[in-house]
Amino acid sequence: MPHLPRCPSVRMFLSHCYTCTALLVLVALAMVVMADVEEKHCDLVGDEAKESKREQALLKKLEPLSPLSFNRTVTSSPEEKYVYKFKVCREVNSSLSQSGLVQINLKDQKHTVVGRINETQVFNGSDWIMLIYKGGDSYGSHCHGEKRKAMIMISCNRKTLATGFTLLSEEREKEQECLYLFEMDSSLACPPEDSHLSIGSILLITFASLVAVYIIGGLLYQRLVVGAKGMEQFPHFSFWQDLGNLMADGCDFICRSKPQNAPAAYRGVGDDQLGEESEERDDHLLPM
Ligand SMILES: *[C@@H]1O[C@H](CO)[C@@H](O)[C@H](O)[C@H]1NC(C)=O
Ligand SMILES: *[C@@H]1O[C@H](CO)[C@@H](O)[C@H](O)[C@H]1NC(C)=O
Ligand SMILES: *[C@@H]1O[C@H](CO)[C@@H](O)[C@H](O)[C@H]1NC(C)=O
Ligand SMILES: *[C@@H]1O[C@H](CO)[C@@H](O)[C@H](O)[C@H]1NC(C)=O
Repeated sequence: MPHLPRCPSVRMFLSHCYTCTALLVLVALAMVVMADVEEKHCDLVGDEAKESKREQALLKKLEPLSPLSFNRTVTSSPEEKYVYKFKVCREVNSSLSQSGLVQINLKDQKHTVVGRINETQVFNGSDWIMLIYKGGDSYGSHCHGEKRKAMIMISCNRKTLATGFTLLSEEREKEQECLYLFEMDSSLACPPEDSHLSIGSILLITFASLVAVYIIGGLLYQRLVVGAKGMEQFPHFSFWQDLGNLMADGCDFICRSKPQNAPAAYRGVGDDQLGEESEERDDHLLPM
């Protein structure tokens, strides 16, 4: 100790080290505090490592609903009026631990937790998702005093992220397995929309439309603006005619086995049938 601090660079190194350590400790403390404050999420049944991958995927899918809160007032008789408050994977009321769905009796403001997010179960069908919160407050005289359970059926509705949270029924006149059944609509429950058209057919349709626009627009232009008559009304008529001739020549060149200069039989037939038109055809080739 006595001779170490005499060297100034060592002293500086040590002081840096102290600063570093202090910073690290502060960061670690902040992380612990933040983890404590972090919002509670749905907890599936079982250890985290053993949770079902399918359920985890579904909860991830429902994530966009978690900032929203839903409520529904239910009047079962003039004296009985309840509000049901519901959140997807978040606490409805932080003073009611893990509360995912809470019933409030409007007469005496009594809060009853119907289901908790730390006992979540979730499964889906082709166009619906069922979210179940178990572990609610225990029934009194009903249902053998078991814990309340909320089931929320989320049906596919492509028009909305979430609407129509409603209590369907409250089943509590049973020996056990009582439940509160809710429903709501959400686009998240919908199966992925499969486009009925493949990329190929979309391209084909686009191309056909472009060709139609070209022909109709060209026809109108040639007829009304240029004042063309007959076949000349066809847009770029001579160009397409030339192209046709060129392609025919190309075909001739590639496909015909006999040399072009001595196609006796073909020439004979062609000349007889084409007559004057064969001259016309050659005229187009002249300027090339
Ligand atoms: C229920 O939700 C509506 C909006 O959707 C809100 O205006 C109303 O205050 C809420 N009621 C309660 C009791 O939270
Ligand atoms: C949360 O629950 C407590 C206790 O049940 C209740 O007094 C309080 O009003 C509730 N808070 C909200 C915002 O509803
Ligand atoms: C869920 O949370 C409640 C209230 O904090 C607790 O009593 C219950 O034991 C928890 N359930 C599980 C499965 O951890
Ligand atoms: C449940 O949802 C997934 C996609 O999230 C889907 O692949 C699966 O087919 C759905 N289950 C059923 C039974 O439709």
